[in-house]
Amino acid sequence: MTTSSTPTARNEVATRLIDGSIRRSHNSLLEIDWGAPQDPDLFYMPPEMITLYGTPLWEKMTHRERVELSRQEVANTFSRAVWFENTLNQGLLRAMLYQDPTSPHVHYALTELGDETRHMVMFGKMVSAIGAEPYRLSRVQAMAVQAMPLFYRGLMLYLAALCGEEVIDDVQRKFLNHPELQPIVAQTMRIHIAEEARHIRFAREGVRRHVRTAPWWSRTFCATANGAAGFILDKMFMDKRVYERCGLPVREAVRQAKANEFSQARRRAAFADFHEFLEDNNLLNLVSRTLWRRYGFLA
Ligand SMILES: [Fe+2]
Ligand SMILES: [Fe+2]
Repeated sequence: MTTSSTPTARNEVATRLIDGSIRRSHNSLLEIDWGAPQDPDLFYMPPEMITLYGTPLWEKMTHRERVELSRQEVANTFSRAVWFENTLNQGLLRAMLYQDPTSPHVHYALTELGDETRHMVMFGKMVSAIGAEPYRLSRVQAMAVQAMPLFYRGLMLYLAALCGEEVIDDVQRKFLNHPELQPIVAQTMRIHIAEEARHIRFAREGVRRHVRTAPWWSRTFCATANGAAGFILDKMFMDKRVYERCGLPVREAVRQAKANEFSQARRRAAFADFHEFLEDNNLLNLVSRTLWRRYGFLA
């Protein structure tokens, strides 16, 4: 019998994921009509998911102003997703230098890399198609982000992948069938959800495999460091430049967004499954729990 900690089981999982990729992979350049007209009254993300939804500022906004806020928030989230996927690809490529290039495990990692590069194109195309300016990293931020993949080794590589993929996956699934959503956004989400399901499977298997054998200091580092994802996801969902671009009073908007119970509940719901997974694998401690709580993902 093979367990998921053996190379055979690891390669069996990878082979199944490669088969899935052959059956269902997407190319947004061919599948999405990027030039299709957009209805100016449709939202770019479901209104319930906008940071200011239900706040006093929201109540004062016109419908078109709310739509503009949704456009800027989605542009922020997907601009950040581009650099996050960049760091994961770097981590996968570095790990591969130590792995067998003939193994299904490496072949699936390369397939995932291919998916992610297409996603980066898709997100960039989407931000430009909806007529938004991308939210770019400053030079200092880019240097900080560049340091992240240096820590993506073994357990941390798979855990970092899940930190980004699990919460965003939950949010995207809630986007999908919203009646007031721009079709171009729904199509993008559909492609991303289909391919990320395999990435999540791959990363969950990776965490389970490594957590059994990782030394205590590595498990401690991972159990502590995953809390930093709360900070990154917070920025992914809420950036004050969004409010600036919408002409809103920035300090007041940030204050109301942070106090918004709708947003907090949404964050907790999006984190719930991943929280359970982290608990099951003993990958939370006082520091990480405090950070996840500070950014509204844990009650
Ligand atoms: Fe992706
Ligand atoms: Fe992914």
